[in-house]
Amino acid sequence: MCGIVGYIGFRNATDVLIDGLRRLEYRGYDSAGVAIKADGRLHVTKKAGKLSVLAGALEETPLKGHLGVGHTRWATHGPPTDANAHPHPTERGELVVIHNGIIENYLPLKERLLERGHTFASETDSEVLAHLIEEHYQGDLEAAVRAALAEVQGAYAIVVAHQNHEEIVVARTVSPLVIGLGEGENLVASDVPALLPYTRRVIFLHDGDMAVITRDAVRVTDLKGAPLEREVVEVEWSLEDAEKGGYPHYMLKEIFEQPTALQNTLGGRLHEENAEVALGIELDPHAFDRVHVIACGTAFYAGWVGKYLIEALARIPVEAEIASEYRYRDPVVDERTLAIVISQSGETVDTLEALREAKRRGAKSLGVINAKGSTITRETDATLYIHAGPEIGVASTKAYTAMLAAMSLIAIWLGRARGTLEEAAALELLRELRRLPRLVEEVLERRDVVAHVAEKYHQATDFLFLGRHIQAPTAYEGALKLKEISYIHAEAYPAGEMKHGPIALIDPHLPVVVLATEGPLYEKTLSNVQEVRARGGHIIAVATDGDEEIRRFAQDVIYVPRVHPLLSPIVSVVPLQLLAYEIAVLLGRDVDQPRNLAKSVTVE
Ligand code: AGP
Repeated sequence: MCGIVGYIGFRNATDVLIDGLRRLEYRGYDSAGVAIKADGRLHVTKKAGKLSVLAGALEETPLKGHLGVGHTRWATHGPPTDANAHPHPTERGELVVIHNGIIENYLPLKERLLERGHTFASETDSEVLAHLIEEHYQGDLEAAVRAALAEVQGAYAIVVAHQNHEEIVVARTVSPLVIGLGEGENLVASDVPALLPYTRRVIFLHDGDMAVITRDAVRVTDLKGAPLEREVVEVEWSLEDAEKGGYPHYMLKEIFEQPTALQNTLGGRLHEENAEVALGIELDPHAFDRVHVIACGTAFYAGWVGKYLIEALARIPVEAEIASEYRYRDPVVDERTLAIVISQSGETVDTLEALREAKRRGAKSLGVINAKGSTITRETDATLYIHAGPEIGVASTKAYTAMLAAMSLIAIWLGRARGTLEEAAALELLRELRRLPRLVEEVLERRDVVAHVAEKYHQATDFLFLGRHIQAPTAYEGALKLKEISYIHAEAYPAGEMKHGPIALIDPHLPVVVLATEGPLYEKTLSNVQEVRARGGHIIAVATDGDEEIRRFAQDVIYVPRVHPLLSPIVSVVPLQLLAYEIAVLLGRDVDQPRNLAKSVTVE
């Protein structure tokens, strides 16, 4: 996944591009580059390393012009080097291409182009596009791009500039592109935050769309050139939403935004007066008798929690599926299957392709998505948006708890519609959901307790996370948070599984984080805690306010407010997010842009 920005208008394009790329660095940051049109030529500056390296180079050798394209890369083909950075120019530099995605047939195309005398400066698949467009160029840039794309297989968001044209030609299939409409200026980017300083009126391009962008006009067509009408969306996200708001890291800001994210996700959907939820989705709750919840990473753990919720409240069998596995395991799917795909970005290719596989086999589909207008939202039969706002930190936090809230709403909706959830029980859950923002606030107010635990254990080389039933996914999510931002090895197990092998790991140097909150399996969990303690293990327990029993076995206790056991993952994950964050900061890690990671994985 990469960050793309294009600009044409009255400003100095270099300033707009660097500012925009800075807002998109979470999409990938191992190299960056810009191309600026000036005195009838395209001037390219591109550097391996973070955007600050490129910005430094541009300070030394400024580029000024009113048309430009820029890119920040997450490498797929070819290591992060200056040559492999985008933009990719043709040999004579008359045109440049920026690309996000994968050109699956780039090798045969490259061989053909080499035979025709083209020389390549990089090892990337993307550079093939520049030479292909050059092959087709006879004065009409739009036509040349269209002809080149007709030969391409794979995923792409591309942005093309030519020294002879006062326009930017763009196209997308799978990888996202959004156009920003200004006054006397227009922009294009991979994601909304890059556009917000200049406009909130945007057009989300669909798969197969092309567009020609000039200073005063945007013309959208399909890949054959037929004009298309695309909705102009007014983006609610204000600029500061997409900036740090005074926090040292996006991740910390987003951890503290969780009460608001929950409020926005639940708002307007809880109806205590009739013990119902209003999801506003066109889906018949009786049209299926099996559910597959499909996602990746943190979103998968939200889906796993969703399994417990839907089976408990709606009594429908649910499979929680890892998207990259689901696609290739010949899943049993029919017209009576509902595929629920969960994705913060709405662009994760594994999840998108798993959705397509489920649909091909007859499933109905529902998206639980954060990014409005994203690709997955255009391919599901219905979408339940989580209104978590832009999540910039690579480690997902507020989107996760918002996903859990959404899965709770879906479970209640199905239970009430299918008559498996009585009014009284539903009302209790609605009232608990209404309390959630406040409960999470309370946990956040206890940040210093978590900071103390982080200080105590931040030098450990391994962690173990344990939980039972609906808190097992919480353990896995806690382990993932720690791994992905602190780089400490951490693994998770259902607590009851310990005695079947993992308990051999227990020793005083292995901190064991246990979700021991109030619930039907509390006693069982307590006995697992005792098994660990008896072998010299160090227990860090997440427990419910007022629980004194746990103190007999845990060296450290992080208390959370009492909540309905089925909603405990939403409250209990917050201290685990903070624990990972505090440890990562103590270790001096790059919290918002951890090594090797990108915010949304739009490649397989
Ligand atoms: C979560 O902290 C990770 N960044 C990663 O596991 C992420 O949840 C996963 O890649 C799915 O992303 P999505 O929600 O945008 O589909």
